[in-house]
Order: sequence, then C-alpha cells, then structure tokens
Amino acid sequence: MTSCLMPLDTDRNQLKSNGMIHFPADFIWGSATSSYQIEGGADLDGKGPSIWDAFCSIPGKVFQNQNGSVACDHYHRFEEDVKLMQEMGIKAYRFSISWPRIMPTGRDTVNQAGVAFYSRLIDKLLEAGIEPWVTLYHWDLPLALQLEENGWLGPELPRLFAEYADICFRHFGDRVKNWITLNEPWVVAMLGYGQGVFAPGRTSNVDPYLAGHQLLLAHASAVERYRAKYQTGQKGRIGITNNCDWREPLTDNVQDQKAAQRALEFFLGWFADPVFFGDYPSSMRERVGVRLPEFKPEEKALLIGSSDFFGLNHYTTMYAAEATAVQASVYGNGGLSEDQDVTLSTDPAWPITDMGWAVVPWGCRKLLQWIDDRYSHPEVVITENGCAYPDEISNGRVHDQNRIAFMEGYLSEIRAAIGQGVHVSGYFAWSLMDNFEWASGYSKRFGLHHVNFETLVRTPKDSALWYSKVIQKNGF
Ligand code: GAL
Repeated sequence: MTSCLMPLDTDRNQLKSNGMIHFPADFIWGSATSSYQIEGGADLDGKGPSIWDAFCSIPGKVFQNQNGSVACDHYHRFEEDVKLMQEMGIKAYRFSISWPRIMPTGRDTVNQAGVAFYSRLIDKLLEAGIEPWVTLYHWDLPLALQLEENGWLGPELPRLFAEYADICFRHFGDRVKNWITLNEPWVVAMLGYGQGVFAPGRTSNVDPYLAGHQLLLAHASAVERYRAKYQTGQKGRIGITNNCDWREPLTDNVQDQKAAQRALEFFLGWFADPVFFGDYPSSMRERVGVRLPEFKPEEKALLIGSSDFFGLNHYTTMYAAEATAVQASVYGNGGLSEDQDVTLSTDPAWPITDMGWAVVPWGCRKLLQWIDDRYSHPEVVITENGCAYPDEISNGRVHDQNRIAFMEGYLSEIRAAIGQGVHVSGYFAWSLMDNFEWASGYSKRFGLHHVNFETLVRTPKDSALWYSKVIQKNGF
C-alpha cells in the first residue's frame, strides 16, 4: 500500500495561528437537506406523488418499509427549522424543491399551494439572514413522469425538466441567487437504474448510461433556460452537484494507478467531463462502447461551461486496484464494475461510520486536488459532507464527539487544499437534522440536530453547538 497516511503537518501549520485553523473571510458555512427526506406532507395541498412515495410502498425496498410521508414534518415546521439555523449562525441553507409539489403530474399545471410553501420558506430564510441555495431535483421525480415517460429514460425529460425549472426561476429567482439543477446524477443513474436499490428500482447495465445522458441534457436545458431568460435580470448563479468518493491506488504499481484514475473517471468524470469538456471520458467511451450514448454537436455546445461552480458531495474513500480476471469486487460499482475492471477495498484500520463508510479525511484533500487539476481550477462548493452515527439523547444532550471529530478532520483537509491553491468557497454540512435516509429509512442519523421521529422534537447535538462556534470564529 502507498503511504497515504502521510501527515500534512507542514501544510496545516501554515494555516494555523494561535492554534486555530482559519478559513477565508467570505467562506460560505451552510447546512443541507432535501425535500423528500424532511418535508412530509406527501399528499397535502395538491402535491402529486413522487417515485419515492411509490418506491417506499413496495415491501422490502426500504428499512422496515418506512417512508417519507411525515419525515421531519418540515412542511409544517419550517419556521422552527429556520430558527434552529438562525440560532446556529448558519449563513446558507441548501434545500430542494419537490417537483411534484410544484407540478403534481410533472407538467403543465402549477400547484399554487406548493409555490406558496417554498416562497414562504425563502422569505423566512432571508429574514433570518440565511442565503437560500436551491436544488431543483433531489430524486423525487413526479410519479406521472415515471409512468408516462419511462422516467429518466424518456426523451422528453430534458424538456419537461427545463419547463419545471423555468417555473421555479420565475417564482423564486427574484430571491434565490444560487441554483443547483441536479443532485448527484450518478446516484440516480447507478442506484436507480443500475442496482435498483433506489427509486425507480430498475436493474440494467444499459439504462444507467441512458438515464445519465438524459440527466445531463436536462441539466444543460435548464441552464440554457436560466441564462437566456433570467440570469441577466436576476443576477444569480447556476450549477450542478456531483458526488464522488476518493479512489486511492492500492499500490504504486502502474496498473493500480491507472485503475484508480479510471474509477474516478467512471464516477465523477462521467458527469463532470461533459459539463466542462462537452463529452464523456475516453476511458468510458472505450469500455462502455455502444451502451454509452453520443452527444450531438449542439448538445456538447450547451453542456460545455454549463456550471457556474463545481458542486461536490463527498463522503468517503476506497482503495482501487486493477481487477484480476476472476476477482469479483465486493463493493463494485452497481453490478457494472465489469465496465471498469476495478477492485475496491478499504483499510481495516480506518474508522467507519454507521453507514459502513470509512472516515478518511485526506481522501477529501486528494479529491479536491484532482478536481482542481482536471477541471482547471474551478470554484468548488462542498454541497454535502457528513456522517451517520447511532446518536442517542441523554438528559437532553447528544454527545456526538465522533461527528465533531469527523467534521474537524474533513474541514482541516479542505483548509489544507485551500492552502495548496484549490478554490473551495463553501461547505454545507449534511444534514441540518436527522431525516429519511432513503433505503435506510430512519435508521441512520446524519443530523446536526437529533429528531425524535415519534414526537418530531428537534434537539441540537453537540456537533451543532460546535459547528455554530466554527461559523462564528470562521475556523476552529
Ligand atoms: C447523498 C444524498 C443525500 C444524503 C447523503 C447521505 O448521496 O445526496 O440525500 O442521503 O448522501 O447518504
């Protein structure tokens, strides 16, 4: 194994004064959530069903057959939630708009009650001095579009998404200056259309590439709409959020180094290369062949430069090695690992979170450096980072020292990356509060606030108090 646990003290020391790590003065300190995971109100006030409402109703898909019908009941408690953030001094809040709350069947008819809900939330945030960062699609596709258009496999989806995005720009763009088109298209494509463990629950080794293609075109169409009709007047920014773990070569061997590079290209390059360079990585083209769709010249032109910043969700790291002929990857990439020929593994010495994900802060710095090199120094916004632990309340407190250590570790490495010249402008902790963690239901707690899912009472964990001080001091 390579000596990747090499300490970075030299870098870090330069950033410390009086024993503190300082962040740039205008650093954006935020927290993040998504509509299906917190809102509840699944069929209230005209909201249409989403593919997650439907997916949760299939026995065995979600832990204990739980669902997001009530979730954190944020739909009714958003004012209290804004107050929690205000008390912490949070500067920016990333939330998502539920497409079927705005358009119950995904097209044509606009649900005014849905528009009013987000409008009130945005107003409350601004009154509290919190900048809204709005994601247009965090996985809750209107069910009607799944049934009528075959979901993201349908050729009409990019146009329909742009129409929906247009409604959002029109109603909220006077107050929302930071837009994110899609959250993690990799997850939608791989877990929704490859492994089938997320909605809509399809399994295939062809469909993920088609769904991914349509998602990229949908992103580009929405950005085109924003830039043509709204950006000049509203003066906001728009981008996409991709997710990526770091892949460290298992050995110094050239084959393993190539395998790690390939793994990153299949993970992040799949969705970031088209947005920055107009096409998929050549490694994907060579290995996926005809299953990987082609962009038309006019689509490439729309895609290149279609993100005003580089949205990144990052959680963990794994070793990557060249797969030997008979080796089946334990972790793999969606049963599609044969497209990559990469074997993934972890170091048993690494601590793991309740998700089973390894805590490897230096992987975050290496990933940031890789992004900086490959995409020519973009502005990176960490739109999610965080961890799940089995937190418990005792005497009204949650002593989640492990989460504080996690955040301290990742933020130190992010600061080290900034010190090395990477442009990171913000950090959004996932998540503001414990919520519906997709197929894991309510069994995994990612929040800075504990939520009692029977009483819906929110309690700040020690990490919330710690994060609040970090924001106040602009460091720790
Ligand atoms: C991300 C996702 C979030 C949240 C988080 C923790 O992939 O965007 O919705 O679930 O992972 O698993």
